Amino acid sequence: MVVSVPHGGKLVNRINLNTPIDLSNHVVELDKMALSDLELIANGAYSPLEGFMVKADYDSVVQNMRLSNGLPWSLPITLAIDRLKAMELNIGETINLIHQGTVYGVMELKEIYLPDKRVEAEKVYRTTENVHPGVKKLLERAEVYIGGPIILTKRPIKIQFEDYYLDPIETRQTFAELGWKTVVGFQTRNPVHRAHEYIQKSALETVDGLFLNPLVGETKSDDIPGAIRMKSYQVLLENYYPKDRVFLSVFPAAMRYAGPREAIFHAIVRKNFGCTHFIVGRDHAGVGNYYGTYDSQKIFSYFTEDELGIKPLFFEHSFYCRKCENMASEKTCPHDREHRVVLSGTMVRGMLKNGELPPKEFSRPEVVQILIQGMKQVYTEK
Ligand code: ADX
Repeated sequence: MVVSVPHGGKLVNRINLNTPIDLSNHVVELDKMALSDLELIANGAYSPLEGFMVKADYDSVVQNMRLSNGLPWSLPITLAIDRLKAMELNIGETINLIHQGTVYGVMELKEIYLPDKRVEAEKVYRTTENVHPGVKKLLERAEVYIGGPIILTKRPIKIQFEDYYLDPIETRQTFAELGWKTVVGFQTRNPVHRAHEYIQKSALETVDGLFLNPLVGETKSDDIPGAIRMKSYQVLLENYYPKDRVFLSVFPAAMRYAGPREAIFHAIVRKNFGCTHFIVGRDHAGVGNYYGTYDSQKIFSYFTEDELGIKPLFFEHSFYCRKCENMASEKTCPHDREHRVVLSGTMVRGMLKNGELPPKEFSRPEVVQILIQGMKQVYTEK
C-alpha cells in the first residue's frame, strides 16, 4: 500500500456524470484553465478543495499560503466572471459551468467577491509585471470571483494521449499494484533532458518508483507542445528506464509560472496522486529571472514536513561535465565551468528551430529526433 494520505485526510470525489442538468440555470463560461481546474477539483487532485475558492480561503491563501482552516495551500484556485454576469447571479443558486457551449459541471454559488489582483500578483507571483505570463493571465481574466462547491457532470474530452489521463484514485491503485511503498513525483513542462534524467534516477536510487507526471494543460506559447513532449517521454522510457520502476501519466493543469508557490502546489497535488516524495530542482516552475535558482526549495522551510505530508527531494543545478565524463552538479564536480554543458530552454528552442541538434550530453539523441521533427512541423504551421 502506498503510504501517502491525501491532503486534508481524504480524497475528494465530486464527479457525478448522472447529475440532472437544469438548462434554465444561469451559465458561467469557463476558460481552459478553469475547465482543467474543475476536473482536478472533482477528481481529488486538488483535495481538500471541493470547489472554487470562497473569499476566506482566497484571502488566507494569498496572504498566508494556507486555507482558512490552516492547511497549507499556496495557489488561489478561482473562477472569474465579469461584472455584468455577476449582477445576474444570486447567492444560493445552482450555476451551470460551460465551456464552448457544453455543460461540464454545476456550482452552488456561495459567494461573489472582488479580488485585489495587484495584491494577488505581488504575493503569489512576487511581481506585478504584466510580462510575467502568470500575472498576464491573472490580469486578463475577468475582475469578479465566484466561489462554491462544484460537481463535474461531464468529462472534458481528451483529444490526444487519452490513455495517459488518470485520476488520483487510479494512480494510487497503480502504485499499489506495482508494490511501490515510496514513489517520487516529477513535474515537468519540458522534454526530459539529461539533467532531468540524472535527478530522477538519483531519486530512484532511494525510492521504489518514479511517477513521471508532465503538465499538459495550458502553457505559454513558446513552451514545447504537450503532444511532442509526450512522444519524447515515451521514447526515453522505452530506451533508458526500467519498465517496472517508472509510471507515466499526465497532469492536465495550467502552468502558472509562480515559481516557489507553484512548487508547493505541485508537491501537494502529487501527494494526492499517491506520491511520498517530490523532486524540486533548479528554478522549479520559474520563468525568466523572476525567482532565485533555489527559491522553490527554500519555500518548503515555511511548512513542516508533517503538515505537507510529502517529502521534497532537492537537487542542485545539474549538467554534464566533459572532464568528469558524467552528469554532475556543483556538489559533485570540481571542474571549471568551461567543461560543463549547460543550455537554457531558450537556447534549446532556438537550436531546434534552426534544425540544429543539441549535443548528446544535453539530450538523448532519440529525444532530439522527436523534438526536431515535431518542432519543424510547428514552425511550418506558424
Ligand atoms: S517546471 O515545471 O518546473 O517549470 P522543468 O521541466 O523546467 O519544469 O523542470 C522540471 C523539474 O526539473 C523541476 O523540479 C526543475 O527544478 C528541475 N530541473 C530542470 N532542469 C534542471 C537542472 N539542470 N538541474 C537540476 N534540476 C533541474
